[in-house]
Amino acid sequence: MSISLKNVSYNYKGKYQTVRAVDGVSYDFEAGKCYAIIGKSGSGKTTLLSLMAGLDLPTEGEIIVDGKSTKDWDRNRMRREAVSVIYQNYNLFPLLTVQENIQYPLDLKKVPKKEAEALGRKVRERVDLSENYDKRMPAHLSGGEQQRVAIARTLAQGCKIILADEPTGNLDSTNTRNIVDILCTLAHDDGCTVIIVTHDPSVAEQADTVLQMKDGAWI
Ligand SMILES: Nc1ncnc2c1ncn2[C@@H]1O[C@H](COP(=O)(O)OP(=O)(O)OP(=O)(O)O)[C@@H](O)[C@H]1O
Ligand SMILES: [Mg+2]
Repeated sequence: MSISLKNVSYNYKGKYQTVRAVDGVSYDFEAGKCYAIIGKSGSGKTTLLSLMAGLDLPTEGEIIVDGKSTKDWDRNRMRREAVSVIYQNYNLFPLLTVQENIQYPLDLKKVPKKEAEALGRKVRERVDLSENYDKRMPAHLSGGEQQRVAIARTLAQGCKIILADEPTGNLDSTNTRNIVDILCTLAHDDGCTVIIVTHDPSVAEQADTVLQMKDGAWI
């Protein structure tokens, strides 16, 4: 699935002032590629990612996801079926086991138990976690392991566009390399569109294409 930005702008409207966080950005992201978006703090990266994730609509311009503007998508459906987001703090459900976390999107879709277990196993293996992890709780895992569970959960959802906001922000360099490898492989082998927002130059080096933001626009 592809995602295209058509002259996208976004204003945060406050009582006393308006911040133009994204300012006329266009780009066609292709399936099968891994992109890094870099830029200083406050340059608009998270805002742009949130718009791509359908959390809000652009103030101006359009974002086309799988051929349809985010304003025409049922955005809950879009988040279920087309676009998913990976965060710096993993956002796992703390009271669910690893296996339950991974299978959560399948439970939402009412996938039969046996089928959900088989798919859960498959995506767990994709992120290099053995079945010993199934019954463990997120709080008892390392940061790198938690992020791999979060990626497996995204894979279980079957999303074709994966957006990641500082996914390796809390990880050491070995785990960072490993997580970015996994994300790039999803692009290259599974045809996902992967977009990673990062401060880390080593992450950007692993990406196929690097885009740099400044004051809400590409440099
Ligand atoms: N909820 C908000 N209300 C008002 N202004 C906001 C809000 N969120 C962000 N901004 C402003 O929008 C601009 C872009 O912020 P954004 O969070 O997108 O930057 P960023 O590139 O992700 O920064 P960082 O690297 O620090 O995460 C900044 O000037 C910021 O102050
Ligand atoms: Mg940010």
